[in-house]
Amino acid sequence: MNRKGVILAGGLGTRLYPITLGNTKQLLPVYDKPMIYYPISVLMLSLIREIAVICSPKFLDQYKSLLGDGSQFGISIVYFTQAEPKGLADAFIITEKFIGDKNVCLILGDNIFYGQGLESKILPAHKRSSGATIFSYPVREPSRFGVVDFDKNGNPISIEEKPSSPKSNFAVTGLYYYDNKVIQIAKSLKPSKRGEIEITDINLEYLNRGLLHVEDFGRGFAWLDMGTHDSLLEASQFIQAIEKQQGLKVACLEEIAFKNKWITVKKLLEASNKYSNSEYGDYILKILNKGI
Ligand code: DAU
Repeated sequence: MNRKGVILAGGLGTRLYPITLGNTKQLLPVYDKPMIYYPISVLMLSLIREIAVICSPKFLDQYKSLLGDGSQFGISIVYFTQAEPKGLADAFIITEKFIGDKNVCLILGDNIFYGQGLESKILPAHKRSSGATIFSYPVREPSRFGVVDFDKNGNPISIEEKPSSPKSNFAVTGLYYYDNKVIQIAKSLKPSKRGEIEITDINLEYLNRGLLHVEDFGRGFAWLDMGTHDSLLEASQFIQAIEKQQGLKVACLEEIAFKNKWITVKKLLEASNKYSNSEYGDYILKILNKGI
């Protein structure tokens, strides 16, 4: 199955001002690595190797200097810019040529997905060749998100963007698998009241066509979106707690690449030398020595 990956990492990050006045949110540290490593890791675990990063033109050079062409992770990364935040659905219009006739997975650059069942949830979505798959997650404040409601058999019946009276407590997370029709659907959308072309309208279109699959990540799983100072700090603390307890890293891209057999021992050694002064480098050395 050939599916392209798109990471949406633009936007102004105004809720994090003044931190994001001189920096982009998705490159801020989440404990021991840049935020964007986490969504890249999800695409890599999904076995997606061709990735487009969409960012604001102001920060393009920073993304390029961090991630390059992706070959150090055994993947290919190309870059697109979005001058203004026109909406999540704009991602498919910007990357139309990159997606070509393939299917696509969109992930938000400020979302972390972590839990044992991750691969068993995302691989079936990746393998589904037609329709759309989105993921729900129970949250305390659903009105901050897209909200999906289900009938008594667990089938989705409605999706609303940031409803003031949510019909359920299931948020739609920032990970979306679509067939190629998503490009045409995105192009047909009219901006919402907040002036954006909404991903929720794309999902509604698939729902109306009877082609929307909704998987629930469930309570044993962690989904974090990092839009505020508190959620940014909490995400760092969460990753720190997991990594300290287990001695294993979340979203070590070299580790995933090596386990997927996308990079050789030589590439891993290069990374370990490059980061030899850091704990991240020590971790890669442990992988090399088969300690992990
Ligand atoms: O996090 C999941 C939620 O993401 C979903 O439940 C909602 O249905 C969906 O609309 C979206 O809601 P948000 O209000 O969280 O989206 P936000 O505007 O914060 O954008 C999410 C990320 O995407 C953010 O890091 C900035 C980036 N972005 C956003 C827009 C609108 C872009 O790069 N370009 C854009 O045009």
